[in-house]
Amino acid sequence: MKLASRTHRVGPSPTLGITATAKTMAAQGIEVCNFGAGEPACDTPDFIKAAAIEAIQAGFTKYTPVTGTEELKSAIVDKFQHDQGVAYEKSQIVVSCGAKHTLYNLAQALCDAGDEVIIPTPYWVSYPDIVRLADATPVFLDTDESKGYAIDPQALEQSLSPRTKALILNSPCNPTGAMYNRETLEAIASIALRHKITIISDEIYEKICYDQIPFLSILSVAPELQAQTILVNGVSKAFAMTGWRIGYAAGPQDLMTAMGHIQSQSTSNPTSIAQKAATAGLRGDESFFAELIRDLEPKRALMVKQLNTIPGIHCPNPSGAFYAFPNVKELLGRRHAEGVIATPTDLAAYLLKEARVACIPGEPFGSANHLRLSYTTELPIIQKGLERIGQAISGLR
Ligand SMILES: Cc1ncc(COP(=O)(O)O)c(C=O)c1O
Repeated sequence: MKLASRTHRVGPSPTLGITATAKTMAAQGIEVCNFGAGEPACDTPDFIKAAAIEAIQAGFTKYTPVTGTEELKSAIVDKFQHDQGVAYEKSQIVVSCGAKHTLYNLAQALCDAGDEVIIPTPYWVSYPDIVRLADATPVFLDTDESKGYAIDPQALEQSLSPRTKALILNSPCNPTGAMYNRETLEAIASIALRHKITIISDEIYEKICYDQIPFLSILSVAPELQAQTILVNGVSKAFAMTGWRIGYAAGPQDLMTAMGHIQSQSTSNPTSIAQKAATAGLRGDESFFAELIRDLEPKRALMVKQLNTIPGIHCPNPSGAFYAFPNVKELLGRRHAEGVIATPTDLAAYLLKEARVACIPGEPFGSANHLRLSYTTELPIIQKGLERIGQAISGLR
């Protein structure tokens, strides 16, 4: 069958692919240390589950308004006011089936063929394909590991063209864990204002920041950007709710209305029950976030420490999210019995086979020198997995 040309512009999400392989191996009885997951290991909090169960029992099981229930939008408006100090009307909120769906709707509503969207590298794997599916062109903006992956304002300015439509920011960043500081955000804001560039700020890891460094949204730093900024967020990471599929955006009214129209002709509303659960999460007390950080902090410390003991691997301390992004450049070119490790993809395949450890190669994140390892799993698994990686790497020549 001759498929639509757009199907050739996208591939399956590579992170989901490797996680699936690791799960298949586990189902075959092979014990795999899985560092591929992009989700908290803990369960969704009980008070959130209770709200969903209550919703089912109360018969809240029918269509809701396409862009979300009034009570959920109201909770989201309050969240943005409380956390970012930014005021929105409920009509400026669109709730979708996960932040990935939010970003998809956003690109469809914002971009025309030939528009350019600037994506700083390394980036979350789905941004380029979401942009391509909207017939627009991703323009990659390199950032430097030695500078904490901060965006260089001069480089940003040089990457602009008359076709530049938007810039995607992701802080804390998947995969690097880097967070933008006030100075970087002010510099970006001034360029965006001067050149009228739309900012898409993906803040899904907002609640997962370490070392008491507070998360800063670009709109908290530069409220004057509100008319040209879309804040994207969701409950997946903050409340361990990846399976419930609730993401949301806030932004200029005309754009949000258009996103609602696109959603009305595709998925309609996100699941009614999941919306009740998300409302409970957003309205609940904030102690769960502190628990999440208390759980993740020692895992981050162990992961980074162990990675840095392996010769040929260098790993900076991530400031947020739950991924280590070690540089493995020194290992490229080394040999094992069956061939050469030429790329991070080769290295990830070697580690899966030789060490029974699943990690994600850097290429789909726009890096030819890194691996991504999620550290949400249990401490003994991190310890065991890193010992196995160390052993497998010591076998390279
Ligand atoms: C940076 C980033 N944005 C958005 C998402 C999408 O999250 P969800 O669709 O589960 O809300 C993810 C998930 O991994 C992510 O890492």
